[in-house]
Amino acid sequence: MEISQPINQKVNLITSIPGKKSQQMRNEEDLYIADGLQGFALMAGIVVESAFGNIVKDVDGNEFLDIIGGIGVNGLGHSHPKFVKAIAEQVSKASVGSFTSKARLDFFKLIDTIKLGNLNRIQLYSSGSEAVESALRLAKNKTGKWEMVSFSGGFHGKTHGALSLMGSDFKKSYGPYAPGVNIIPYANCYRCPLNTAYPGCGMACLEVGRAHLKANVGSGVAAFIIEPVQGTAGNIIPPQEFLTGVKEIAQEFDALLISDEMITGFGRTGTFWGAEQSGVIPDIMTIGKQFGGGFPISGVVSTDELVKVKPWGNPSGSSSSYGGNPLASAAALAATNIIIEENLVMNSKKMGAYFLEKINPFADRYSFVGEVRGIGLMLGIEMVKNKKTKEPLSKNATNWIFKEFLNKGLLTMAYASSFRIQPAMTIDHDTIDNIVEIMEKVFNTVEEKGIKEI
Ligand SMILES: Cc1ncc(COP(=O)(O)O)c(C=O)c1O
Repeated sequence: MEISQPINQKVNLITSIPGKKSQQMRNEEDLYIADGLQGFALMAGIVVESAFGNIVKDVDGNEFLDIIGGIGVNGLGHSHPKFVKAIAEQVSKASVGSFTSKARLDFFKLIDTIKLGNLNRIQLYSSGSEAVESALRLAKNKTGKWEMVSFSGGFHGKTHGALSLMGSDFKKSYGPYAPGVNIIPYANCYRCPLNTAYPGCGMACLEVGRAHLKANVGSGVAAFIIEPVQGTAGNIIPPQEFLTGVKEIAQEFDALLISDEMITGFGRTGTFWGAEQSGVIPDIMTIGKQFGGGFPISGVVSTDELVKVKPWGNPSGSSSSYGGNPLASAAALAATNIIIEENLVMNSKKMGAYFLEKINPFADRYSFVGEVRGIGLMLGIEMVKNKKTKEPLSKNATNWIFKEFLNKGLLTMAYASSFRIQPAMTIDHDTIDNIVEIMEKVFNTVEEKGIKEI
């Protein structure tokens, strides 16, 4: 079935950015909103009026191309017509409560057709962090153990358990963390934590992790939690055998493997599930983002055997206030249906390959581009001061680049030196060409000016 979203979408700017109306409304909102809103929303300063496909339109009438994509939420493209219709119909019927609804039953039947291995049981929640916490509880229940293993650079949310397992210094000042946190190296080959090089390294990071756990934790590990491709760290793609190796280590420690598929699930990497890329079947998956089409829904997916464990599996043991209510279920059903019917997993693979082919030459063309990478529509560009030392571009420089993109009508995550790109999975060739044209213009300006001047 054809993709029901507009094609060949283009930027249309009619005011300076942000325009007057946006500025006024942002200033007003600033009187009320707490600090800490997402960085790009603060920096862009635009106020959204509407959005369709890859376009976000502000209240001043400017139309931007969006490659932030709600950081992996916007799989369908903004305001997908079938999604809009399904939500509108459901909201007029029933929204609240955990009774079975036709929408939820149909969603479960549908997701069963694309399940990974024997992961056929789902419990629904509303945020990614909530699902991760539930997965950790399930693993503790099942194994009777409480040590957890996560990875350098990893991100699983901002609630206490998930935050404790975070592999970056974002969590500083929130200690003391949950007990039983063990962080081992992720295969971030561009910035190898062991300063070696793939494939000559023989996946030394796995050996270091294994040795660390043997020495420090022994048999106490309940679960390993991992992103098959790390999103927040910069869309970091490990070698395929990394996840296979992690699974082996988890088995050695008699621990469960949780694949956190919040971003990688539902086709983002060009296969339905991120773990599929390595042929690995985890014990538990956490899912979210794309399958709600923008509606806040997440889930824990596991096996017949695991979900029976008590007290997780007791009545009300793994439930929540909003999880799987009729409205959330209708959103999940509609979004998953669209992903399947419109072949968006294949489109993600094809368009991802096309996008990557277009931006791959940047690594040779620009002195500040250290690496370009991508898997499906999860792409990344490393922006560095020096290609040899790989020192990241300064925050000042990346903020400048972000603004330059904004002024040309492209909404990006270029404010970080590991520049992440994840457009809608409904994107087409022409829209990618229009995006890449802007990227070239901005990167040419950066090159001409020199990074010291920006
Ligand atoms: C891999 C991963 N897990 C969990 C989360 C947390 O999700 P939420 O922000 O919905 O709590 C995120 C959010 O970006 C994520 O990328």
